[in-house]
Amino acid sequence: MELKKLPNVILFIFPRFHFSLLSSFSLLISNLPPSLNALIFIMLYNPKIISLSIFSILLLSIFHLYYHLPLLYFKYCSTSNLFFFFPPPLSLSSSSPSSSPSPLPPLPPFLTSPPLLPLKRIRFEEGCDVTRGRWIRDPDAPYYTNETCWAIQGHQNCMKFGRPNMEFLKWRWKPDGCELPLFDPVAFLEIVRGKSIAFVGDSLARNQMQSLICLLSKVEYPEDMSVTSDPNLKTMYYKSFEFTIYFFWSPFLVEADDKQTSVWNVHLDRVDKTWYTHLRKFNYLIISSGNWFTRPSLYYRRRKLVGCNYCHIGKKLERITLYDANQKAFQTAFWAITNSRQFDGMTILRSSSPNHFENGKWDRGGDCKRTAPIKEHEIRWENDDEMKVYYKQLEQFIKAKETAKGKGLEFRLLDTTHAMLLRPDGHPSKYGHLPNANVTLYNDCVHWCLPGPIDMWNHLLLQILK
Ligand SMILES: *[C@@H]1O[C@H](CO)[C@@H](O)[C@H](O)[C@H]1NC(C)=O
Ligand SMILES: *[C@@H]1O[C@H](CO)[C@@H](O)[C@H](O)[C@H]1NC(C)=O
Repeated sequence: MELKKLPNVILFIFPRFHFSLLSSFSLLISNLPPSLNALIFIMLYNPKIISLSIFSILLLSIFHLYYHLPLLYFKYCSTSNLFFFFPPPLSLSSSSPSSSPSPLPPLPPFLTSPPLLPLKRIRFEEGCDVTRGRWIRDPDAPYYTNETCWAIQGHQNCMKFGRPNMEFLKWRWKPDGCELPLFDPVAFLEIVRGKSIAFVGDSLARNQMQSLICLLSKVEYPEDMSVTSDPNLKTMYYKSFEFTIYFFWSPFLVEADDKQTSVWNVHLDRVDKTWYTHLRKFNYLIISSGNWFTRPSLYYRRRKLVGCNYCHIGKKLERITLYDANQKAFQTAFWAITNSRQFDGMTILRSSSPNHFENGKWDRGGDCKRTAPIKEHEIRWENDDEMKVYYKQLEQFIKAKETAKGKGLEFRLLDTTHAMLLRPDGHPSKYGHLPNANVTLYNDCVHWCLPGPIDMWNHLLLQILK
């Protein structure tokens, strides 16, 4: 019997062993002393004991592999390098972060637990990180007004409702080390010609869509092709460019309802079909979520109640934090996207949008009255949970991006959180309605005025699509 053929036969019979056998065999050979090495080869060349050798090698290799696996795990998956991969985004202004006291709360402990992959930030110029920078004066802004754009929803129409100070319009985002080009509607429409963009998320996703429509309005207005009058389901069509914008209101991204109870029933493992069933139509999916997880909710998995947040019901239930719930929802949504056979487009995560209530919570007289951007060292997250939501989203995004790469799908990050933390002056506050209006959110420090700093999200989007 020929020497070369036998292993092939074995490998043919046990194809699953192929890789492990080869790799562990080479590991074995390279780790043994030369004399033993030679002995093995002498044995191999003796046809009489070939089969015996093969099986002993098989046995040895399996043993060897099991011996090596834990070591390999510690070598590549250990968490000691985490902070190198995942720097806190807010401590850049100080040159020695360890010595100067930081006004920010410490990094949440979860950052030290799961293994993370390196985070590639959006770069459209060598050496330029668009998530780091500052707001600088722009005397030419704004580039549209409440008079030139009809797509501004009442609640965000700060010009219309008499906001006294319009200085908040006169800024643009200046990344450290490069320029973020102004929005070029023609360039944008050329990129998306014959394609479609879907905004999936809550009212902030709609806020961004309306900003995009206003920014494009210099060139063309879309036709409203929505099949219903439901503002949560929009289809806008740009005839000359055969370009479609969809909006799907899905604040949890997963199935949720508040029909039978006063709280939300959120099924963390079931993707929301309102947007998911349309996936094949999208070339670009801009997905976002966060704010609605602050509501009292009951959480389900496999249709079984597993926990709750802000729950005041009698039953003893495990508390699931809003950031863990939000992360689970993203995990489900990303899983659904990467496992869909109908979708081959690009997924863009728009990271969480910060609130700016000061001197009280949203329902306790909190307001956002500032008239100018703040500086880096003045940044305050509204609370720890808000920051954790942001980090958990990035963490889930990194995992999904890695999975998606293996399937030829593209995932990109629209990280606007840092820039928006610096804009407490960009919210409608009480200028999103008439002074005597009876609205739930009287001082709106969640949404963004149009025009306003949220336009930067689309300036950045254009660079991502380029
Ligand atoms: C736009 O805002 C101005 C005040 O800046 C207001 O007088 C006008 O009625 C508004 N127009 C629309 C269409 O909202
Ligand atoms: C405001 O509206 C809510 C219901 O939407 C109602 O219960 C409440 O009494 C109203 N308040 C005032 C001051 O009109």
